[in-house]
Amino acid sequence: GVASASDNALWEKSTLNQIVKRGSLEVCLEAGYMPFEMRDKGGRIVGFDVDMAKTMAHAMGVKLSLRNTAWDGIIPALLTSKCDIIMSGMTITAQRNLKVNFANPYIVIGQTILINPKLKGIVKSYKDLNNPKYTIATKLGVTGEIATKKLMSKAKLQLFETESEAALQVVNGKADAFVYDLPYNAIYAAQNEGKVDLLDKPFTYEPLAWAIRKGDPDFLNFLNNYLAQVKGDGTYDKIYHKWFKT
Ligand code: ARG
Repeated sequence: GVASASDNALWEKSTLNQIVKRGSLEVCLEAGYMPFEMRDKGGRIVGFDVDMAKTMAHAMGVKLSLRNTAWDGIIPALLTSKCDIIMSGMTITAQRNLKVNFANPYIVIGQTILINPKLKGIVKSYKDLNNPKYTIATKLGVTGEIATKKLMSKAKLQLFETESEAALQVVNGKADAFVYDLPYNAIYAAQNEGKVDLLDKPFTYEPLAWAIRKGDPDFLNFLNNYLAQVKGDGTYDKIYHKWFKT
């Protein structure tokens, strides 16, 4: 019943121990993904992930510091310790899971499509878009890109740095469709009524989860128990309703 020296060494190295010692939780996210992380009118980053990060930091008794990081550099930033955790609506994929560990999913979403209104009734699902006459826009390096390449490989693909640039192509008539996560598309469609049409039936299965560096069982244990706690005690529901029920 005595802790071994190697157990202590593991805890010494744990990101969780470093967070507590440092007195701050450093979170990588990429603002622009409604309603998880986005800029408010004052330029502050707000959203579902941000509120979850705030309550987490509070539970740890530390300050929260947000690191806005471009999507294509977000896993490298975590791996080089620019932050402790990615809380950025990241879908668990087998490929990403080779590089990082994921806590249990905090929400499940799927890919959906925004189409140009002129295609209403013509394009009814992703299957109809799998045609060389259509141009699809999405964001570089996201699961929308993976899904489009896999399921709509015959269509032309345009990739953009940000989701807003990609969605704008449909509004401008430069692309026929925009493929992206349902929560983002639902908000975008509501904000751009008449300019885009939402096909809201998700056609992929995507659990979103917090990502951390590998080899850190202590931090992973904290995160999974923390998530179970907030899901059970009403904290999660409160934050969910704030951002998902308008
Ligand atoms: N769920 C998608 C993915 O993992 C998109 C996430 C984009 N997140 C963001 N903060 N921009 O690829």
